[in-house]
Amino acid sequence: MKQTIAVYPGSFDPPTNGHLDIISRASCIFSKVIVAVSDNSTKNPSFSIDDRFTMLKEATKGMRGVETDIFSGLLVNYVRRKKATVIIRGLRAVSDFEYEFQMALMNRRLNKKIETVFLMPDESYTYISSSLIKQVARLGGTMEGLVPRSVERFLKEKK
Ligand code: PNS
Repeated sequence: MKQTIAVYPGSFDPPTNGHLDIISRASCIFSKVIVAVSDNSTKNPSFSIDDRFTMLKEATKGMRGVETDIFSGLLVNYVRRKKATVIIRGLRAVSDFEYEFQMALMNRRLNKKIETVFLMPDESYTYISSSLIKQVARLGGTMEGLVPRSVERFLKEKK
């Protein structure tokens, strides 16, 4: 069987159970999934690159075929360096589509050998986003079922 390596890139600011659901689905399809945290200073994330990486590493501990990493620069160049051929992105709702479609086509233009594969999370995660999570956590709302335990801890420390 063909051994296909996939990269799942994102800001993961912070990782949510929706991200974990996508990672789990991807790990059933591909021989290796590299979850790659973007170190892109223009996005101005709430959590440092080290914290985002640590949260993801803890949350994916024990998941077979899943690795975590940090990348900077063009995603397609990172994907090529990792000998991967697939970029994974999650699609929660139609509102995600336009941005994702543009990114996928730009990445294809930059490297036509890399395919973007979209996966849908379980429907119970479709309304979860990192920015909503941060807002609810800041205002003292429960994080139960929304984020992995490792992330809950980081959110509490940030409050
Ligand atoms: O979780 P996000 O913020 O939606 O992830 C966006 C990310 C990190 C995948 C995207 O911004 C990205 O790929 N950045 C790396 C720079 C790059 O390659 N840009 C051109 C892609 S169209």
